[in-house]
Amino acid sequence: MSKADKKKAPDRMERIVNLAKRRGLVFQSSEIYGGLNSCWDYGPIGVELRRNVKEAWWREMVWSRGDIVGLDCSILMHPRVWEASGHVSGFTDPLVDCKKCKSRFRADHPDVLAKHAETCDGELTDSRQFNLMFRTFMGPVEESANVVFLRPETAQGMFVNFGNVLDTQRRKLPFGIAQQGKSFRNEITPGNFLFRTREFEQMEMEFFVKPGEEAQWYDYWKKERFDWYLRLGIKPDNLRMREHESDELAHYAKGCADVEYKFPFGWSELEGIASRTDFDLKQHAEWSKKDLSYFDEESRERYVPYVIEPAAGADRATLAFLVDAYDEDEVEGETRVVLRLHPRLAPVKVAVLPLMRKDGQPEKAQEIFAQLRPHMVAQYDQAGSIGRRYRRQDEIGTPFALTIDHQTMEDGTVTVRDRDKTSQERVHESDLLAELLRRITG
Ligand code: GLY
Repeated sequence: MSKADKKKAPDRMERIVNLAKRRGLVFQSSEIYGGLNSCWDYGPIGVELRRNVKEAWWREMVWSRGDIVGLDCSILMHPRVWEASGHVSGFTDPLVDCKKCKSRFRADHPDVLAKHAETCDGELTDSRQFNLMFRTFMGPVEESANVVFLRPETAQGMFVNFGNVLDTQRRKLPFGIAQQGKSFRNEITPGNFLFRTREFEQMEMEFFVKPGEEAQWYDYWKKERFDWYLRLGIKPDNLRMREHESDELAHYAKGCADVEYKFPFGWSELEGIASRTDFDLKQHAEWSKKDLSYFDEESRERYVPYVIEPAAGADRATLAFLVDAYDEDEVEGETRVVLRLHPRLAPVKVAVLPLMRKDGQPEKAQEIFAQLRPHMVAQYDQAGSIGRRYRRQDEIGTPFALTIDHQTMEDGTVTVRDRDKTSQERVHESDLLAELLRRITG
């Protein structure tokens, strides 16, 4: 490759963005109108991937434990919530404007400012604080009494429902409340594809503990959450835990550590594990005048619980799994693009491919396709050479491809091709479902 060609070759991140578009994982929002900055649409393949990431989280955090319950709160909440939480006064980023080109920048991002200085010699204004919450109006009258905010985090839903959960679920400390859902932040400089967007999905859990026990639970959740990414296939070299410096801590946090992933654009946060003390419950008790304390039957004491919060981004996790899975290797003398996704996360679990479009093979393949569909996401494909069909499935990370061939018509066995090894073995159609389920969940 000449130097000029090398320069033109898209870098790893661009190749992933291109694949995402080509194969229906992620499209630009409102693309036919020129797109909307930092907003993305998950296509038919991407929506399955993100659902699987969210389900893997919910399975781990709620279903497989006895001490965490779920919740799904409305996005619009009483405006007092955000005063009590500190977001009205404290959820800000320092902002500067360029007097010449009118662009806006984070004052605390020197790399972005330096990039701007390369193309524009405009003078910058003094920095001022910019609140990141999106504001809108409830009802037809646009006046300040009707201002509501799109939630900037799902966490407050768990705090304001702490009493409801306690009253209805007969929970003893320690216990957690988990929620997944959209949050909104009017970021000054969004970017890096799905990484920093103004509308995004969170997966958060508030774990309520007895004061004094927070340090041990902080350590426990840091390890649990770190290991979750590894269990789902993230390469250990691409993951690290970074403890925050005291000047980085959010207004509610006593301690915080980030699980970071080595993206092509650098180490960046996937999830924060924060020790939030009793800050939120105390604030809400004060502002709402409702008692949010807990009576400990064992010690016969009443206290306000402390909170450990693992807060993950569903889109960021999806992007990390996608980036980590992206690979290029050589099969039969040709470069192939393959997503080596964990079978649990793979958008499509199995492809059903008749080798020939004759001799009853398509009908047999349709029959097998219909049997598998209620149990897993499956695709049927009879268009093009078998090699081309395998490549299409490799590009969306389908772990298994079944081929129905002349032998199937004689003895009822099909070939099962493994995406990573590209090897094949024959399995009888009556054993297929059990075998595939074992490999997917195993
Ligand atoms: N609840 C913490 C966060 O949204 O980052």
